[in-house]
Amino acid sequence: EFHLHPKDAELSSAGFFGKFDRRQLQRGFQVYKEVCAACHSLKYVAFRDLEEIGYSEPEVKAIANQWVIETPSVNPDTGEATTRKNVPSDHFPSPFANEVAARAANNNALPPDLSLITKARHDGPNYLYSLIGPGAYRNQPAELVKEFPGSKTPPGLHYNPYFANLNIAMPPPLTADGQVTYTDGTRATHEQMSRDVAAFLTWTAEPKLESRHAAGFASVVFLLIFCFLAWGAYQNVWRDIK
Ligand code: HEM
Repeated sequence: EFHLHPKDAELSSAGFFGKFDRRQLQRGFQVYKEVCAACHSLKYVAFRDLEEIGYSEPEVKAIANQWVIETPSVNPDTGEATTRKNVPSDHFPSPFANEVAARAANNNALPPDLSLITKARHDGPNYLYSLIGPGAYRNQPAELVKEFPGSKTPPGLHYNPYFANLNIAMPPPLTADGQVTYTDGTRATHEQMSRDVAAFLTWTAEPKLESRHAAGFASVVFLLIFCFLAWGAYQNVWRDIK
C-alpha cells in the first residue's frame, strides 16, 4: 500500500501505433546531458546514434568533442591511464573510472547504466517518469515507520514510493522548473523534463521501436488477408460436398 504504481507518462511512443517525437527526444537528450550524465553512462549508445533523433553529422561531432566526461584512454608515451576527448563512434562514457570509484562517490550505491533501464524495469518508461517526476521524492509517511520501524529511511537515502524498496540512494535529480534551458523554447517544468528524459531513455533502449510497430501492423494486415484466403480456399475445397 506504500509502494505506488507508475503514473502514465502518455508518451507518443506508447501503444500499438506509437511513434517517437523527435523534438521531445532531443529535449530528453538535453536533460540526460545536463543532469543525468553526471552519474550515469549510456554504454550501448554511441554519439553518432544521435543522428537518428535529428542531429546533423557536424552537430554530433561537436557534441562528442565538447562532452565534459571523456573516454578512458592510455598515454602512449608513459602507458599511464588517462582520458581523451570523445569522437562520434565513442559511447556515452561513465563519469567514474570503475565501480569502486562510482560507489565511493555515491554513498556505496552504484548508478546503473541507463541505456536499457526502461526495459529493465516493469513498465519502464512510465516508471522512470514517475520516479523522477514532481512529488515522487517526499517525506516518508509516519504510518509506514510506525508499521515497519525497520523501513525508516536511513541517512543518505531518500524516500521514493515508486522505487521498489522505497528508499533510493539517488538524490532527487530534478528538483526545480527551469533546470535545463530547452533550445526549442519549450518551458522546462519539472514535469516536462521528467517526461522528456523518459522518452529519450525509451529510445536508447529501443531505437527500432517504430519499425517494430510498423512490422507488427503489416503482419496483422497480412494475417487478416490470409484469413480471407484460407476461408475462400475452404469454401472452394468443400464446395461439392454436402
Ligand atoms: C539510480 C535515472 C540522475 C545517482 C537510477 C535509476 C534510474 C535513474 C532509472 C534506477 C532506479 C532503479 O533501480 O529502479 C536517473 C535520471 C537522472 C539521474 C533519469 C537524470 C534526470 C542521477 C544523478 C546521480 C544519480 C545526477 C548522482 C548524483 C544514482 C544512483 C542510483 C541511481 C546512486 C542507484 C540508486 C539505488 O540503487 O538506490 N537513476 N538518474 N542519478 N541514480 Fe540516477
